[in-house]
Amino acid sequence: MKPPLKIGIAGLGTVGAGTLRLLRENSALLARRAGRALVVTAVSARSRARERGIDLTGLRWEDDPAALAAAPDIDAVVELIGGSEDPARALVTAALERGKHVVTANKALIARHGAELARLAEKRGVALAFEAAVAGGIPILKALREGLAANNVRRIYGILNGTCNYVLTTMRESGREFGDVLGEAQRLGYAEADPSFDIDGIDSAHKLALLAAVAFGTEVDFDGVHVEGIRHVSALDIEFAAELGYRIKLLGLARPTEHGLEQRVHACMVPRAAPIAHVEGVFNAVVVEGDFVGRIMLEGRGAGAEPTASAVVADLLDVAGGRSTTSFAVPASQLKAAERAPMARHRGAYYVRLMVLDRPGVIADVAAALRDEQVSMEQMIQRGRAPGGAVPVVLTTHEAEEAAMRRALDRIARVETVIETPRMIRVENL
Ligand SMILES: NC(=O)c1ccc[n+]([C@@H]2O[C@H](COP(=O)([O-])OP(=O)(O)OC[C@H]3O[C@@H](n4cnc5c(N)ncnc54)[C@H](OP(=O)(O)O)[C@@H]3O)[C@@H](O)[C@H]2O)c1
Repeated sequence: MKPPLKIGIAGLGTVGAGTLRLLRENSALLARRAGRALVVTAVSARSRARERGIDLTGLRWEDDPAALAAAPDIDAVVELIGGSEDPARALVTAALERGKHVVTANKALIARHGAELARLAEKRGVALAFEAAVAGGIPILKALREGLAANNVRRIYGILNGTCNYVLTTMRESGREFGDVLGEAQRLGYAEADPSFDIDGIDSAHKLALLAAVAFGTEVDFDGVHVEGIRHVSALDIEFAAELGYRIKLLGLARPTEHGLEQRVHACMVPRAAPIAHVEGVFNAVVVEGDFVGRIMLEGRGAGAEPTASAVVADLLDVAGGRSTTSFAVPASQLKAAERAPMARHRGAYYVRLMVLDRPGVIADVAAALRDEQVSMEQMIQRGRAPGGAVPVVLTTHEAEEAAMRRALDRIARVETVIETPRMIRVENL
């Protein structure tokens, strides 16, 4: 048997503790699969005194995570601290500089500095692996790099944030409003005390930027992602979605278009017949459409100690077995800068909900605004009657350009009898 792979782990929170536990509980299986033992030699976190529910006896403790990068008895550094900047960035950079393999679950770091770190890894001939950074336990990066590598990817999309999917699923099942469901999710521990990273789509955007880079061989372009969250989705929208045959999901979608690479994260109307419409609760899913393979969907747990540890240790197995492939499916030196498709050029169908005063002529005014911007209406529903009072009106459009739709919405908002800002949700053809 080959000598063991010696591992240093920085960060012993949810994922770090889960990783340590998996490495221990499945050690015999891992050694058999890698042809060598995977052994943790040193660990680092902020507080040495913190009770973590794991036995750290026999492991060297480093107060400074950077010490793991310098340690001669470490072959691979596992970075599970988080955050796009130091200390995570400094640790990963130093470890790669010193010729150590790096495995990380840190989407923020890779979304911001992925191309630069991958080039450094390549220069030093070591691995930079981050399967756990995208959709937790779902092995989507490996699928893209290996099993689907023969395909041109036409489109990739997914439910990339379990908190948002849980909130939207619970809203649909219970008919309750966003704020109410989010509050409950926070009490149950499904949402963070500060949920904005999840709810406003940033976490999904980090993951989408990584998926797009691997799927299309472009440099990670997080700033090129159009990002919207789910705060504006109301119980009424969810009810109308059901009536129209849709479910509302927060999706991250990326595809090459004639205007460049389109990357967007926002609430979508998803046809109920689409497999991804049935991915519920905290589950994540990623769909890849390849030119030869067709459509493939992977579904699973996108977060949590155990699923995330599963992905971290799979990367360590590749390192141990010498099977490390390029981080982004093509050599880092060949990653092309992504040409950004402006969101204004996006083409798609739209759902619009208005609150209007129930007076004659309102519908004609709304229809005129759409017509003047060459947006063609597919259907319109007016719910109930309240002469002189407010009623919801919902319409869907045929495919239109985003810029035209935005102009039409501005005009509709100025119609005197439209009493709230129109709500718009994009309808996806999945
Ligand atoms: N949680 C998930 O389900 C999940 C899923 C996929 C990816 N990830 C990613 O995995 C990474 C870790 O997430 P997590 O949920 O495990 O976070 P966490 O529970 O907050 O743990 C973070 C760990 O990093 C340590 N740490 C923080 N600042 C440090 C510093 N300045 N120096 C040394 N150690 C420091 C903390 O030390 P103390 O324990 O002493 O405070 C803690 O052990 C993040 O990049 C996250 O995005 C998480």
